[in-house]
Amino acid sequence: MTKAFPVLPNAETVTAVTHYTDHLFSFRVTRPQSLRFRSGEFIMIGMMGDAEKPLLRAYSIASPSWDEELEFYSIKVPNGPLTSKLQNISIGDQLIVRPKPVGTLVLDALLPAKRIYLIATGTGIAPFASLIRDPDLYERYEQIILCHTCRDVNELKYGEDLVNSLDIDPLIGEFVGDKLKYYPTTTREKSPKMGRITNLLSNGTIANDLVLPPLNPKTDRLMVCGSIGLNNDIKAICEDVGMREGSNSSPSHYVVEKAFVG
Ligand code: A2P
Repeated sequence: MTKAFPVLPNAETVTAVTHYTDHLFSFRVTRPQSLRFRSGEFIMIGMMGDAEKPLLRAYSIASPSWDEELEFYSIKVPNGPLTSKLQNISIGDQLIVRPKPVGTLVLDALLPAKRIYLIATGTGIAPFASLIRDPDLYERYEQIILCHTCRDVNELKYGEDLVNSLDIDPLIGEFVGDKLKYYPTTTREKSPKMGRITNLLSNGTIANDLVLPPLNPKTDRLMVCGSIGLNNDIKAICEDVGMREGSNSSPSHYVVEKAFVG
């Protein structure tokens, strides 16, 4: 008698894998037919663990809601239960993708305004990789400022490649126009713009570099995705100028989500 091959629940197929550094990579998988999500949301994905139990983690979807496939951007955690296995996936492999999207980094959680800052550190850029490919973002805002801070220059590559690809994207290019400003910074390796985004925001450097007025609850919105430290520091900056945290049920001036670590 032949042993039945276990069928994965919610199985999707890997269609692309790109390694950026020893600890950062992105991958794409087929999209579950039943999955509807808003750009900026996250879902649970994973693989079967050693004990034939699914090993799942929260991952922001980095692709926009209109995309036929799903993209994710991940760190490789040394000895991380999931990412130590996930970093070895290749095209044709199967992953578990649970089609239940949730999250706070959605456009509906913010009141209308002129300008939006998308502030990320590390893999926190993933939900914004989704949003900057969504025409809805460009329809809602006149100016979009994507701030990405990493320790080293090569950690900026995923975001840099993505931003550079937008202009020539047949679907999104015309929406982007000159609305999107990209503001990458590093904190440990020398680069054209150095410093933590929190400092560059509060000491007026970014306003000076991009010719922007000071943060104002009437005109500005913020989405933040990074470490707990970053999230709390930006929250304090927002609250200081009279901004309030928004949610799906009560839209306001800014929203925050922790970047997920596999
Ligand atoms: P720094 O090098 O000064 O710690 P990590 O790799 O630790 O997740 O950090 C990613 C990036 O986020 C680093 O450039 C780091 O700067 C920056 N960062 C960490 N905490 C904060 C914070 N509280 N405010 C602003 N930037 C932060």
